[in-house]
Amino acid sequence: MPEKPSAAVPESSVVVRPEPIDSAKYSVTSRLQAAGLRPAIALFEQAAETVPLPRQPQPIVIADYGASTGHNSLLPISAALPVLRSRTRPEHSILVVHTDVPDNNFTVMFKTLAEDHDTYLRKDAATFASAVGRSFYSQIIPSNSVHLGWSSWAIQWLSRIPGPIPDHVQVAYSADEGVRAAYAKQAAHDWHEFVAFRGRELCPGGQLVVLTMALDEHGEFGHRPLLGALVDVLSELVADGLLTEDEVRRMCLPTVGRRETDFLAPFAPSGRFEQLSVEHLEVFNADDRFWMQYQVDHDASAFGALWAAFVRASVFPTLVTALAGGRNDPRSAQFFDRLEVGIAERLAAAPEQMQIPLAKLVLTKQRRTK
Ligand SMILES: C[S@@+](CC[C@H](N)C(=O)[O-])C[C@H]1O[C@@H](n2cnc3c(N)ncnc32)[C@H](O)[C@@H]1O
Repeated sequence: MPEKPSAAVPESSVVVRPEPIDSAKYSVTSRLQAAGLRPAIALFEQAAETVPLPRQPQPIVIADYGASTGHNSLLPISAALPVLRSRTRPEHSILVVHTDVPDNNFTVMFKTLAEDHDTYLRKDAATFASAVGRSFYSQIIPSNSVHLGWSSWAIQWLSRIPGPIPDHVQVAYSADEGVRAAYAKQAAHDWHEFVAFRGRELCPGGQLVVLTMALDEHGEFGHRPLLGALVDVLSELVADGLLTEDEVRRMCLPTVGRRETDFLAPFAPSGRFEQLSVEHLEVFNADDRFWMQYQVDHDASAFGALWAAFVRASVFPTLVTALAGGRNDPRSAQFFDRLEVGIAERLAAAPEQMQIPLAKLVLTKQRRTK
């Protein structure tokens, strides 16, 4: 895999404010992320069947951690609602709390909830939507109040950048052992915190379903052709004079995949942590939907374009902050366009299935003993 230009970069530890993804484009390109959702949704439906429910007038609370545009939240919530309704009266209120960082585009999210034809709000008159604009690396919902929790494609984002990645944008592909160790330490800390705070927020007996990026049993992060193309185009943009070496060296994606053992670490040795236990844990390879489409239509350009549009929406907003002028740098539009075109061309020239290792987990909070 090609490498970024390397040079000594001062150590730093920067708080991550996840860059708002390109909301308009994310909803249309996130079909890929929807691919891994289905197996996790089945777990969410099972959780809706089993979690203890409050008596009226106390609402049933569903929390959605890292909601973004809300587009990919519609399916899991819509799947859980009929299951809950089979256990409750139609007038029993259900409150859905969508959470994300303060910079998230909550306007787009509320429009999605109001207008998308898949919105759960049109399906159940006693279900209400709300939002919390705070990082999930702290307690953001009252203790013992959440009956069902959902988090998809979100907790791979670290709370802090432990330091620059001198030879890549994604730490999984860095050859620097020190950098890899620093990211692993941060990933362990963040997972520990995320679980601890959800342990407080869940009701006794409540369940949280998590879908996130993982490392497979060989430590493989996947996405190799895509990330290889991305780093290759960045080098080309330096050679062409659009970017400086320093800017590219500053670019990094503060995201991690975790191994099964990483997910289990906070629960060792007793199997319990903050009254939570791991009910289910599985690392699996999600379908590459763009590859599946390519198998049918053999349209290599479309394959490259779909993957490139997806990374444009989900990760370019983070990379652009490394430009000297940040996201308002006058070169940013050109940066976005050239990076997207370059990635699309490379993937179209040699279409290859993307490995997408994901983990799905169910955490359960201990029930109250009578
Ligand atoms: C790739 S999107 C996933 C959106 C949606 N859940 C899905 O499945 O497609 C990741 C979201 O996680 C949010 N996120 C990242 N770190 C976060 C944090 N510390 N607290 C809350 N949300 C966070 C990002 O802002 C972003 O909206």
